[in-house]
Amino acid sequence: MKKNIDLRSDTVTKPSAEMRKAMYEAEVGDDVYKEDPTVNALEKYAAELLGKEAALYVPSGTMGNQISLNVLTSPGDEVICEKDAHIFQYESGSPAALSGIQLSLVDGIKGVFTAEQVEPLIRPASAYYMARTKVIEVENTHNRAGGTINPLDNIKALSELGRKYNLLMHLDGARIWNASAKTGIPVAEYAKYFDSISCCLSKGLGAPIGSIVAGPKDFIKEVYRIRKAWGGGMRQVGILAAAGMYALKNNIDRLKEDHDKADNLAISLSKIPGITVDMECVQTNIVMFTVLKFSVEDFLKKSRENGLLLGTGKVGVIRAVTHMDVSSEEIGDAVKIVELIMS
Ligand SMILES: Cc1ncc(COP(=O)(O)O)c(C=O)c1O
Repeated sequence: MKKNIDLRSDTVTKPSAEMRKAMYEAEVGDDVYKEDPTVNALEKYAAELLGKEAALYVPSGTMGNQISLNVLTSPGDEVICEKDAHIFQYESGSPAALSGIQLSLVDGIKGVFTAEQVEPLIRPASAYYMARTKVIEVENTHNRAGGTINPLDNIKALSELGRKYNLLMHLDGARIWNASAKTGIPVAEYAKYFDSISCCLSKGLGAPIGSIVAGPKDFIKEVYRIRKAWGGGMRQVGILAAAGMYALKNNIDRLKEDHDKADNLAISLSKIPGITVDMECVQTNIVMFTVLKFSVEDFLKKSRENGLLLGTGKVGVIRAVTHMDVSSEEIGDAVKIVELIMS
């Protein structure tokens, strides 16, 4: 049977033979006692890569974001983020449920909001009857906007504003590797403007699981405590951390290939009558498009029947994500399937 072309997400990648070998050979110990040498090595390596004092391996990007927010805030605090931020749209309401905090949403353009937009939202420190503004959160690349990159100058301006008002900065860098691969700006340069960062090993980098939270030592000490409290303490998890280490050492540079595949896909799709692609948003490995003639549900059903798996983004939008387990040839086949459906 012909294999489906799976463009639903870059999370669908499976560990390669070399990655599995690294996992098989991993030395392990009890990570709750901090005795897993492979996890310890991964955390040290990731902290260096991100230019932070310390890092902690956590099971997921959601946990990475939510623990970070929990440690940076107190109940009743407010976090400013973009209206389509993952922490708002896709993390099951956990800022409220787990940390007792509220989100203040900024209407960004292509996922990017500016310091000028944020400043009026910062609540006066004297206003005891209001939530206390505590954190500015930035997502880079921005998933729901279509993998868009937040420009470094904009991040600098946000961080200067944050400093002026004594706010903390958190980066949801689930796909910071893609931003860095595209712009050539090192991840540490992006991370420099943030107090905390969460980034994923299990998206474009191809590990089966895992994220890294990085920041100052004192912050990571608290992250370690909360990870345990929330049931995220893991034991001989070096077997998985080995995959993360393999991903960091081998799979960052190749993200450029995913970006090229997304460009090609977007260009080809945009030529099909009835399909509209917002080309300005195609900056990394995500392509968002709309279709005339079919509802999103019908289009997804038809593409699935033809062996092409796609996902959704905002309401009315279809999402295709390129990754290491889809070849350029399969991208060509995906275009042919869409052409067939639209013809
Ligand atoms: C921007 C962003 N942040 C966080 C996450 C959460 O990652 P996880 O699925 O590992 O919880 C995702 C997942 O798609 C994401 O796209």
